[in-house]
Amino acid sequence: MTGRFVTFEGIDGAGKSTHIAAFEAWLRARGREVLVTREPGGSPLAERLRELVLHEPMDALSETLLIFAARRDHLRHTIEPALARGAVVLCDRFTDATFAYQGAGRGFDLQVLSQLEAWVQQGREPDLTLWFDLPPAQAAQRRAAVRAPDRFESQDAEFFARVRQGYAERMAQAPQRFVRLDASADREEVWTQIERAAAQRPWW
Ligand code: TMP
Repeated sequence: MTGRFVTFEGIDGAGKSTHIAAFEAWLRARGREVLVTREPGGSPLAERLRELVLHEPMDALSETLLIFAARRDHLRHTIEPALARGAVVLCDRFTDATFAYQGAGRGFDLQVLSQLEAWVQQGREPDLTLWFDLPPAQAAQRRAAVRAPDRFESQDAEFFARVRQGYAERMAQAPQRFVRLDASADREEVWTQIERAAAQRPWW
C-alpha cells in the first residue's frame, strides 16, 4: 500500500471535523490504516507549541516560526512514519493554512513562507487537499454557536475574507492537488462532494 497524505482546509467554522471522521470511517471500511492528525499539533512537542500559538500574544513572525517548528516535528514524528507504513494520513490543516492565515490574513511575506515550506517539508506535499469553502459570515454564525474564540477565531470578517482569498490563490497554484467543496451546502451534500472527489482517485 502506498501512503497517502490528505489535508483538510478552510476558514474556522467550515465544518471540517465532521467530515474528517466520516472520511476516516470510509477508509477503514476499505481496510486502510488511517492516521488522523492536525496542525498546529500532531506530536507531543507540536501540541505544546499549538497552545502557545493559539493563546499567547505574539507577532506574525514568531507565530509563523512556531507554526513551522511544530510542522517540522509533526512531519518527523507522526506524518512521515505513518506514510512510510502505507497509512492514509488525514490532517486537519497544513501549510495552505499558513499561506492563508499568516500570508493572506496577516500580510506575512509569501516568498519567506515558500522558503520555509521548502526547507521544512523537504519536498513533502499533500496528495489531495479538500478545501471547505464558505462565505465568512456563514462560518462566523456556525462558530458562534459552538465555542469561545481563540486568537484566530476572534479576528474580524475582513481577516476571514482575506484568508478565503488566500486559499483561492493556493488552489490556483496547485489545481491538480486541490478540490474545492461548497461547504455552505448541508452535511449530506458536502459528503457527496467528498465521495465524488475520492472516487476519482484510485488510491484507496
Ligand atoms: P483549528 O481550530 O482548526 O485546529 O485551527 C487552529 C487555528 O490555527 C485556526 O484558527 C487556524 C490557525 N492556523 C494558522 O493560523 N496557521 C497555520 O498554519 C495553521 C495550521 C493553523
